[in-house]
Amino acid sequence: MKQLSQLVSSIPASVTLAVNDKAKALQAAGQDVIALAGGDPDFATPQHVVDAAFRAIQNGATHYPAPMKGIRPLLEAIAHKMSQDNHIHVNPQTDIVVTPGGKWALYLALAAVLNPGEEVLYLEPVWVSYPPMITLAGGVPVPVSLSSDDNFRVTADQIRAKLTPKTKAIMVNSPCNPTGRVLTQAEIDAIVKVAIEADLYVIADEIYEKLVYDGRQHISLAAQPGMAGRTLTANGMSKAYAMTGWRLGWLAGPTPILKIVTRMNSQTVSSAANFTMHAAVAALTGPQDFIVEMRESYRARRDFMVKALNEIEGIECRDIEGAFYLFPRFPHSQKNSLELADALLEKAQIAGTPGIGFGSSGEGHVRFSIATAMSELERAVERLAKIADQL
Ligand SMILES: Cc1ncc(COP(=O)(O)O)c(C=O)c1O
Repeated sequence: MKQLSQLVSSIPASVTLAVNDKAKALQAAGQDVIALAGGDPDFATPQHVVDAAFRAIQNGATHYPAPMKGIRPLLEAIAHKMSQDNHIHVNPQTDIVVTPGGKWALYLALAAVLNPGEEVLYLEPVWVSYPPMITLAGGVPVPVSLSSDDNFRVTADQIRAKLTPKTKAIMVNSPCNPTGRVLTQAEIDAIVKVAIEADLYVIADEIYEKLVYDGRQHISLAAQPGMAGRTLTANGMSKAYAMTGWRLGWLAGPTPILKIVTRMNSQTVSSAANFTMHAAVAALTGPQDFIVEMRESYRARRDFMVKALNEIEGIECRDIEGAFYLFPRFPHSQKNSLELADALLEKAQIAGTPGIGFGSSGEGHVRFSIATAMSELERAVERLAKIADQL
């Protein structure tokens, strides 16, 4: 047989898979594994959203949607939401494409701006999928490594240090998976300054925007002066409305970029599913109190977990500002994060994600998701307290 694609073959297997596979094997063998490795809200999708999907199916929204890039009420609901929540003003007719999940929106953004060999910066620790997505879109991933000692703060000089004549874009995820950081206005200003100086496209991943704590504000890059023409904003229904399985997201940005993005979407996946778009209209235009309740639960879990973890000798856990992941480190341990995740699984039957999966600046950390019932988190803490000295 002829050789398979070198590009696709070059994508490494996810380091998180090994832990997940082991966790599943232990579960299959009857062990009581506490799963803290996922990124899926443990809340049910709100009932009125589910009802809207059923109604849409019954009303025949089971064919290709029209327009394919998103039904009009959804494009309008997204434009309205972005204007209200994010101060980003986009034309629903020309500047938005609805995608099967936020992830595909991010890939479309990369594919639209990159030529082969161009470099894309991202802040590290980074969500596992950014580097492979950049590679698949023909680009070269370049981390801006942030330090846990400085609470993963980013400055203009740290970004500037990674610029080359090939730098084309920067990907920014705030609130951040896995660090839980929410970028401050000073950090946003730093990114804006360098993006304008170096003429970069900016891909802003706002999927966790609704999950910010302690009165913090999520700040949208596309709303900053001088940024509307160079920023693509990816978002979706997964985290804000507990709709991960519906696979619905969107990309919004400058008209000329969205023009080619829409073409690529239609020539690859065609569209997102029709009836899920109707459900998304119900979610975006209906009551929003679900989000407040869900955020409050995450906040209570965060408060419990951060305090409890810091009380355990050998574990250090920073408070998180947004999203639903804790990213503790184990300062006395000689183990790397893969060994730590293994030990947690073997000794305490807790599945966490090894920090190295989020790039080398994630080494020494393990990510725990708090999108898990409080009772599970309490059990996890009890087990951790018993085995922490063996890590
Ligand atoms: C940082 C980040 N961006 C984007 C996504 C994509 O989510 P979805 O494709 O479900 O919309 C996720 C999901 O885990 C994520 O953590």
